[in-house]
Amino acid sequence: MGPVPELDARAQACADRLLTAEEVLLASHIDADGLTSAAIASTALERAGLAHEVVFKKQLDAEEIASIAAMEYETVLFTDFGSGQLDVISQHVDDGDFEAVIADHHQPSDAGDCAPGFEDTDGYGDFAWHLNPLLEGIDGASELSGAGASYVLARALGGDRNRDLAALAVVGAVGDMQATGGELRGANERVVADGVDAGVVTEARDLSLYGKQTRPLPKLLEYASDVHIPGISNDESGAIAFLEDLGLDLRSDGDWRRWVDLSDGERQTLASALVQRAVSRGVPAEKIDRLVATTYTFPNEPEGTELRDASEFSTLLNATARYERADVGLAVCLGERGEPLERARRLLANHRRNLSEGIDWVTQQGVEQREHVQYFNADDRIRETIVGIVAGMALGNEGVSRSKPIVAFARKSDGELKVSARGTGVLVGQGLDLSVVMREASRAVDGDGGGHDVAAGATIPDGHEEAFLDAADRIVGDQLD
Ligand code: C5P
Ligand code: C5P
Ligand code: ZN
Repeated sequence: MGPVPELDARAQACADRLLTAEEVLLASHIDADGLTSAAIASTALERAGLAHEVVFKKQLDAEEIASIAAMEYETVLFTDFGSGQLDVISQHVDDGDFEAVIADHHQPSDAGDCAPGFEDTDGYGDFAWHLNPLLEGIDGASELSGAGASYVLARALGGDRNRDLAALAVVGAVGDMQATGGELRGANERVVADGVDAGVVTEARDLSLYGKQTRPLPKLLEYASDVHIPGISNDESGAIAFLEDLGLDLRSDGDWRRWVDLSDGERQTLASALVQRAVSRGVPAEKIDRLVATTYTFPNEPEGTELRDASEFSTLLNATARYERADVGLAVCLGERGEPLERARRLLANHRRNLSEGIDWVTQQGVEQREHVQYFNADDRIRETIVGIVAGMALGNEGVSRSKPIVAFARKSDGELKVSARGTGVLVGQGLDLSVVMREASRAVDGDGGGHDVAAGATIPDGHEEAFLDAADRIVGDQLD
C-alpha cells in the first residue's frame, strides 16, 4: 500500500499507464513545489527505466498546452498543475495529440468545462489517469502538495525503494506553505513518516524562525517576520543588544554564530529569553506559541546549508525557478552540487532582495480597500512571479488587515496583468474560496485563473482591473455572507 491509501487506486492506474509508455514528456510548474514534483517524478521514471524529458511552465494555459502538444510526445505527465486545465487537456486527448497523466493538487476545472463528448462521472471530469487529493476528499491546500501527489505516484511506480524521495515531497509541501499551522498534517504527515522511516527526514520541535541553518544570529532575529517582537524584529541594534545581554559566548573568531552552531543549552537559554521578551512587550500568547513549531530537516545534507532545512531549501528553489532558472533548481533537487548550488545561492541573494524591496514598497504604498477585498497594483515594480509571495507576506503587516483577502496585480512581460490573491485559514473557515474567485472574476473579463481556496491567481487582459475587482469583491462578499 502507498503512503496515502485513499489514492492507491488512482496512483496505480497512473503508474501502470506510464510503464507502458515508450517515452514521456514531464511538464511541471515553476515553483518549489513544481520543481520538487518534477525531481521526484523524474527520478521515479528513471529508476523505472522510462526515457523522458522535463519542461517547466510558468502557468499552464491553452497556449502552453498547445506548445506541449507540438513536442509530439505520445505520453505527457503533468505534475503540480494540469487539474485546473482538464478541459483543455482533454480536448487534446480527444484529438489524439497525446495521452495525459496528471499528478496535481489544484482545484480541478469543473464539469461544465469539459470538452464535448467528454463523460463526467464524478463532477470533475471522467479522466482515467488523474491523481489529485481533492478527488478523494483530501485538502489540496493543506494536506498534500503537488510534490506529495508525485511522491504517491513514485511509490506506485517503484515501491519502497522510492521512499528516499519523501524528503523532496516535504520540501514541496513546506514551499507551498502547507505547514503554516506549525506542522504538516493529514496525508502530508504520512509522507513525513515515510521519510523518517527511510532515514531522510528528521522531525523536531524547534524555534520556528526562518534561517536557523544559514543566518548569523542577529539576522535570524532581526528578519523574523512571522512573530513581531518589539525591539528585536526589524531592529538590527536591538537584536544585537538582546543577544549580547544573554551572557553567552555567541561569537566565534569575531563572527556571529548561527542557530545550528549552538549547543542545546545555549538554544534553550536564547529561546526562553526570546519568549520572555515577547511576553514583557505584550505580544499576544497565541503569537508567542508560534515561536516554537515542528521543523523538518534532512540529516543527509550538510549542517549549516540551505539544503538541511525544508523551509530554507524551498526558498532556494523558488529563487531559481521563479527567475527562469528551473534547470538550476532541478539539478540541485537531483543531487548535483558544485556549480548549480553556487548558482542557486546567487539567485537566492537576488530573490531575497526582491522580496524585501517588494514588501517595503507595499508597506509604504499601503493597500486600497473594497468592501470585501483589499488590493494593490505593483505594475512592474514587483516581478509577476513573486507578487503572490509578497502579497502573502504583507498580509498582517501594518495597514494590511487579515480580515479581508488581499489581491495583487503585476504586469507581465507580454503586457497582460498577473493577479495573485491570498487569504487566511480563518477566512477559508468562513467560506472563502479564492480558486473560485480567481476563476470566475477572471473569466468575467476574458482571462483565466484558479488555484487553492487560500491562495489563487489569474491572468487578465490589461485595463480590466476595475471590472475584475468588482466581480471579485462581489464573489468574496457572497462567499463570506
Ligand atoms: O501552484 P502552487 O500550488 O504550487 O502554489 C501554492 C501557492 O499558495 C504558494 O505560493 C503558497 O505560498 C501559497 N499558499 C499560501 N498559504 C497557504 C497555502 C498556500 O500562501 N496556506
Ligand atoms: O501565482 P500565485 O503564487 O499567486 O499562484 C497561487 C496559486 O494559484 C498557485 O497554486 C497557482 O498555481 C494558481 N494559479 C492558477 N492559475 C493562474 C495563476 C495562478 O491556478 N492563472
Ligand atoms: Zn503546488
